[in-house]
Amino acid sequence: MAYGGGVPAAMSGLASASASTIKLVKLERESELRIEVGEMPLRLRLLNGNAEIYGTELPPEIWLTFPPRLKFAVFTWYEATIEMDGTPETDYTADETPMVSYVNVNAVLEGRRNHAKASPSKDSDASQGPRVIVVGPTDSGKSTLSRMLLSWAAKLGWKPTFVDLDIGQGAITIPGCIAATPIELPIDPVEGIPLEMPLVYFFGHATPSNNVELYKVLVKELAQMLERQFNGNAESRAAGMVINTMGWIEGVGYELLLHAIDTFKANVVLVLGQEKLFSMLRDVLKNRPNVDVVKLQKSGGVVSRNSKVRQKARSYRIREYFYGLTNDLSPHANVANFSDFLVYRIGGGPQAPRSALPIGADPVANPLRIVPVNVDQELLHLVLAVSYAKDADQIISSNVAGFIFVTNVDTQRKTITYLAPSPGMLPSKYLIAGTLTWLET
Ligand SMILES: Nc1ncnc2c1ncn2[C@@H]1O[C@H](COP(=O)(O)OP(=O)(O)OP(=O)(O)O)[C@@H](O)[C@H]1O
Ligand SMILES: [Mg+2]
Repeated sequence: MAYGGGVPAAMSGLASASASTIKLVKLERESELRIEVGEMPLRLRLLNGNAEIYGTELPPEIWLTFPPRLKFAVFTWYEATIEMDGTPETDYTADETPMVSYVNVNAVLEGRRNHAKASPSKDSDASQGPRVIVVGPTDSGKSTLSRMLLSWAAKLGWKPTFVDLDIGQGAITIPGCIAATPIELPIDPVEGIPLEMPLVYFFGHATPSNNVELYKVLVKELAQMLERQFNGNAESRAAGMVINTMGWIEGVGYELLLHAIDTFKANVVLVLGQEKLFSMLRDVLKNRPNVDVVKLQKSGGVVSRNSKVRQKARSYRIREYFYGLTNDLSPHANVANFSDFLVYRIGGGPQAPRSALPIGADPVANPLRIVPVNVDQELLHLVLAVSYAKDADQIISSNVAGFIFVTNVDTQRKTITYLAPSPGMLPSKYLIAGTLTWLET
């Protein structure tokens, strides 16, 4: 609870700060320090005791630098002293947290993983570890709880698979995608999830309502691919998965949650922060004895974000893909001819004119149609996915290698300038366009 007050910078060995911004915070048992970093980075280290950030233990005495706008909590199970250098937008300690209930869930999952690992038959349901799906309204702490469960499992040596179905944010890769990746180490509190070869499907929009049918098909593709990987990998199978979802829980959003539960054969449904959703899911799943629906309290530390903040966060996330969290990456600007690429859009496309349809029929566009896109000005500022497809009709069923950002289209010369994370040829000429744009600022 108590702040140690300002320690003169010179005394702490950090003589660079003109006015002291050093603070000591003593955390008592099962309490946390909640921080919202302002526009300047914040440094922090663990001086004494033990503490973790979203399930990942802090190394003793090592300064960690947190980028602007990050919101996080340093939690201790016993006690800890934290030293902080910088001026966060908000920082306060709280001793009421739902962490004990979260770690209890983890203990149950741990038991199931051990059980799965010990199962003599490798193909039966018994060898399948928990498939956890985290659901709840926006800003209920779903992403944070997913992360804790993954980090706690990884700390014990498991390699659970993280599945991110939230296209609005992109915890694994950029927004507009659904993705999965094995988590082999507790997630770094600053860097987040390493971008090593995740399995990514490109939806291309920031909300599923742009093409609900496509969203469902991609969820299915991802689930089938993971199923195949699990079949060949007993270790991943026993570790199971943690599925993070969107905060859209009404109407079509609710249908999509049920669809995800079915498609991934989730057997643990964690409902955060909403009684109504919990009771609806419990009722609809009550005939499935192997599915547990568990209600969990939302943490008081969760920070709400409005749509403007979310939109900005999406933009930062795309920037991070190309430039790195701290501008540590240098993307390559490349020029290509229009004819070097085949760009497609999924859904919509030229609708049949009403006159060509049977009387009374509505001209509905096929949401899964693969439509060629003319390479022209319209591509400017779009983020395009580079598909692994070998043929246009494989575009929906193929995952993507990465993304490019169109910075210039020269219709005279018929060339396109784009930013790519690495130099050289793109792994494929099949590109997918959606509505995902970015303004490099
Ligand atoms: N205990 C906590 N202390 C401080 N900040 C927290 C805490 N828990 C979560 N946050 C922050 O609150 C914000 C919202 O949490 P989170 O992203 O987990 O919610 P969510 O339910 O996934 O939201 P969304 O519906 O947008 O996906 C995040 O920036 C997260 O880092
Ligand atoms: Mg989230």
